Amino acid sequence: MTHTAHFKVWRGDTDGGDLQDYEVEVNDGEVVLDIIHRLQATQVADLAVRWNCKAGKCGSCSAEVNGRPRLMCMTRMSVFEPDETVTVTPLRTFPVIRDLVTDVSFNYDKARQVPAFVPPKGVPAGEYRMQQVDVERSQEFRKCIECFLCQDTCHVVRDHEENKTSFAGPRFLMRIAELDMHPLDAAADQGLVRSASAQEDHGLGYCNITKCCTEICPEHIQITDNALIPLKERAIDRKYDPLVWLGSKIRRRQD
Ligand code: SF4
Ligand code: SF4
Ligand code: FES
Repeated sequence: MTHTAHFKVWRGDTDGGDLQDYEVEVNDGEVVLDIIHRLQATQVADLAVRWNCKAGKCGSCSAEVNGRPRLMCMTRMSVFEPDETVTVTPLRTFPVIRDLVTDVSFNYDKARQVPAFVPPKGVPAGEYRMQQVDVERSQEFRKCIECFLCQDTCHVVRDHEENKTSFAGPRFLMRIAELDMHPLDAAADQGLVRSASAQEDHGLGYCNITKCCTEICPEHIQITDNALIPLKERAIDRKYDPLVWLGSKIRRRQD
């Protein structure tokens, strides 16, 4: 079955732009990215769109469809009524380059600010041993395809450009949580307490656990429940743990 759908697609660049109307053919089984490609092929050859795998795995085709952050290649046209207008706009949280392509370098900057895994001393590579539960926790977080839909949807930066310098966003707070809970990470031996750093350097306190990031994640990672809340608890436990408090006083006196 084929029908004609009404699309509104944002077109423009750094100087501004607006929504433009198109009538496009839709066939059974197609996804939004198919329609955007048909638009390129038949009506607007210069329409800019970023994509790669068309299988929900590269994280490139992120955009907003009817105002909701989504992967275009995983959004079936069948979820819309045939007479419904489908509006496709670029990710709102990041600056537009052109049409549906945004500059997501904010995320790469934040990634660079998270110190890497610190290998434990005296344990050769290949001889790391961990409990299965710890392996599974990391595996869940590592399903991330870096689509940055969670970063786009988080209200802390979506509506507040001014928070961008001090807030890493859910994807990178999740990375810090992964490392903080990693039983072999030896960052603390080098003086880096990751949960404290999440609070002090990466804006964990801005997160009010609304779970919007979790709801939007195409990999269904439980970002809030499994990463952000435990990280907050660890930061607080550390702050109010009397033994930790005493230890820091003694250390300070020795310094
Ligand atoms: S749970 Fe936290 S990080 Fe996720 S969207 Fe809400 S405020 Fe942002
Ligand atoms: S955590 Fe989920 S929504 Fe966020 S970047 Fe990774 S895959 Fe995308
Ligand atoms: S094109 Fe790769 S996730 Fe959509």
